[in-house]
Amino acid sequence: HSLLPHNTFGIEAEAADFCEFASGEELEQLIERGVFLTRPYFCIGGGSNLLFTQKRYDWTFLHSTVKTIEVTYENRNWVEVRVGSGVVWDDFVQYCVDSNWYGAENLSLIPGEVGAAAVQNIGAYGAEVCDLIDSVETMDVMGRKRIYKAAECAYAYRDSIFKCPNMKSVFILYVNFRLSKHPCFRLDYGNVRQALSQYDEVTLAHVRQAIVDIRRSKLPDPAQLGNAGSFFKNPVIFRSQYKELCTVFPDMPCYEVDADHVKVPAGWLIEQAGWKGKALGCAAVHDRQALVLVNLGGAEGADVVALARAVQKTVADRFGIEIEPEVNFI
Ligand code: EPU
Repeated sequence: HSLLPHNTFGIEAEAADFCEFASGEELEQLIERGVFLTRPYFCIGGGSNLLFTQKRYDWTFLHSTVKTIEVTYENRNWVEVRVGSGVVWDDFVQYCVDSNWYGAENLSLIPGEVGAAAVQNIGAYGAEVCDLIDSVETMDVMGRKRIYKAAECAYAYRDSIFKCPNMKSVFILYVNFRLSKHPCFRLDYGNVRQALSQYDEVTLAHVRQAIVDIRRSKLPDPAQLGNAGSFFKNPVIFRSQYKELCTVFPDMPCYEVDADHVKVPAGWLIEQAGWKGKALGCAAVHDRQALVLVNLGGAEGADVVALARAVQKTVADRFGIEIEPEVNFI
């Protein structure tokens, strides 16, 4: 089974088996058929945040196609929505905007599916999906159901309990979101406010459109140029180290984290290290956003890994900062 349609990097890889489940009952049927007893297994979403590093996997890949969206509770102030893990994330954002529910709009156009969004704690423009999640409904390989309240999910920057290796046997069926019925926009990140200035008023649809425009202007469309969004996380460093670096690199930007730490944009470090727009074989650093690695066509996982290592090394040599991949290496 080809994994090419299941990764936005556009990398060719083969899986021994590929199974989909459209409901909890269908996942139970796979368990009864013994699918999880025959070989290693791995659950993927839209494949927009992973890198296949092998050409062949003697594994069973699982993919949720649970596609329902239902309102489970509402009052004057908020709404609770139960969303299938296989729903395309941006379709859900559109649904929220059309329904006049506030909270998801800054996360417009992020590729991938709802289940993976809850695993990866996707974020953009000052918003993180964990702020909208009430609970996550799962089933494990033994068919046991469990609901994780958001507080049990250990959410952090692009991280959650679901990324732990021992959670590989836990599959997300539904994510329960809570959205506001009252306007509560976050417009102070980057140039969001500036992108909105063309409109007379700030509405949900305008915020969504502004975010979509910003993303389209710098992030490559995976349909045209294979990529998995930000390839690295923005590193968090000690404020003392940042101050020291500023004596040599006075233009180094940063975001506040806490009293002792700041976050430095990895895209800036990579650009300053001279990698923006540069290629190594069939893989390259994107020319409009240095945090994104792209497949120029025909790249293998190993080509992207080699480029990533080279970029990490140059950044470490130049700034003494280790940058870690945000993309999951499979
Ligand atoms: N920058 C450069 N050169 C570059 C790219 C960035 O100098 O080539 C510097 C600029 O100073 C810029 C700053 O980096 O102001 C921040 O850039 P940007 O606003 O594009 O955001 P980012 O920090 O590079 C993060 C997320 C993105 C998210 C944007 C917007 C991570 C790893 N990435 O990127 O998320 O869309 O902020 O909120 O936190 C993703 O996770 O896949 C992703 C795309």
